[in-house]
Amino acid sequence: MMDTGFKNAQLDDSWAFDTLTRKETTYASHGYHKYPAKFIPQLVKRLLDKYSSEGDFILDPFGGCGTTLVESKINSRNSICIDVNEAALLIASAKKTAINSELLNIKNINLQKRLSENRDHKNYYKSANKRLKYWFTKAQYNRLMRLYKEIQKEDNQEIRTFYRCCFSNILKNCSIWYSKSIKPMRDPDKKLVDPKVIFTAHLNYMTKQNSEYYNLLTKSGALEVKSYVKKADARATGIPNKSMDLIITSPPYAISYEYADIHQLSLLWFGFTDDIKSVRKNYIGSSYREKVNAAKINSPVAIDMINALNSCDPHLSNQISHYIIDLESSFKEMFRVLRRGKRACIIIGDTKYKGIDIKNKEIAIELLKNIGFDIETVIRRKISSKTFTPYRDSIGRFSQKSNGKMEGIYQYEYIIVAIRPELNNRYPLKQFEKIAYDLLNSLKIDRFYGS
Ligand SMILES: C[S@@+](CC[C@H](N)C(=O)[O-])C[C@H]1O[C@@H](n2cnc3c(N)ncnc32)[C@H](O)[C@@H]1O
Repeated sequence: MMDTGFKNAQLDDSWAFDTLTRKETTYASHGYHKYPAKFIPQLVKRLLDKYSSEGDFILDPFGGCGTTLVESKINSRNSICIDVNEAALLIASAKKTAINSELLNIKNINLQKRLSENRDHKNYYKSANKRLKYWFTKAQYNRLMRLYKEIQKEDNQEIRTFYRCCFSNILKNCSIWYSKSIKPMRDPDKKLVDPKVIFTAHLNYMTKQNSEYYNLLTKSGALEVKSYVKKADARATGIPNKSMDLIITSPPYAISYEYADIHQLSLLWFGFTDDIKSVRKNYIGSSYREKVNAAKINSPVAIDMINALNSCDPHLSNQISHYIIDLESSFKEMFRVLRRGKRACIIIGDTKYKGIDIKNKEIAIELLKNIGFDIETVIRRKISSKTFTPYRDSIGRFSQKSNGKMEGIYQYEYIIVAIRPELNNRYPLKQFEKIAYDLLNSLKIDRFYGS
């Protein structure tokens, strides 16, 4: 297809996946844990079918809770999930691992027995992290800690990770975090339920789903397919040059989620950090960033937008400038790790803020082309309002419903399919590059990436 700039990418209803039921989108291990803006597994599968083959290596550098990892495994592709968020990596680790169902049932019975016999009455609350004290009542914290201590006694690492993922998923429910809000907000009147009850219910669900996943992988012979979870920055993944066959990823959105804040209960509970403020700056799209020089931006579309934003909201303008610079660094990294002739499928959405269009898609295309990617196609897809909060009010807050004055945000998103070009006449080869390429090929370097 001709590269036309894709300003008006055609809407393609076949990519909306809006007729799928919740059961279908949470099949196998996909529903183990809530995660904001996670992929629809069927979208990932369609991209895998179209752009990769069995045995290929697939990368998701903004891997989140591991949807790409799980779909890759089910479809017999090796994969790597990168994220800076350790709570995400814990979830992805649990989701990628199918556990022998009989063993898991025995372990679950043992755990339930230990929990019912537990006579621990220690007060753990007094030495709790200050921020956790803000979210949990004393009684609830102590109950959770007793449960957690029993989980930690599990000696099988895969099963312990499975339990930790289950525990992570119930933390919000057990705290005074306002249930209907994805963002941190307290509800002092929240009715609290015994963590053991919520944990057991979710464990039963996960155990059933594990069994479906285990049977699926056993039948297709994909149990041994490699999938790795790695804590790293999408801008510097540590993955070898030209080693990946396909990238499927969705970068965080600017002015949307503060991932560190959203996952603070798990990050603090598991000791991944003891101070949420100190980790925010590692996250692309975070609003907690120092001043940046917008002149570094390599996109005229972005510069126009930033100038417009600067006159109405300088803080936001700085935040978006950071976002674009970081996005470009992550695209450069994608280019570096992709094999020639292979693709990056980048899922990104435009948005609006205080009347100004945030043209993420157009900017991403411009940045990708500057780096050397060819744009093969851009698919426009409708996002279900079940997966995203669709409106923003006049001061920028999210809302599920519109009062007529609100801005529609994230109604559509784009799948940008970018190719790292083959060595060809368009980019005349320097002699040393050709030699290095031939040498690598003749060595037949094993592209397997260790964890
Ligand atoms: C839209 S979510 C991806 C969700 C994922 N597609 C899924 O299905 O779970 C974006 C992810 O980018 C991660 N992220 C933010 N900054 C990052 C960085 N510098 N390097 C790697 N990951 C980052 C966030 O933690 C978040 O998990």
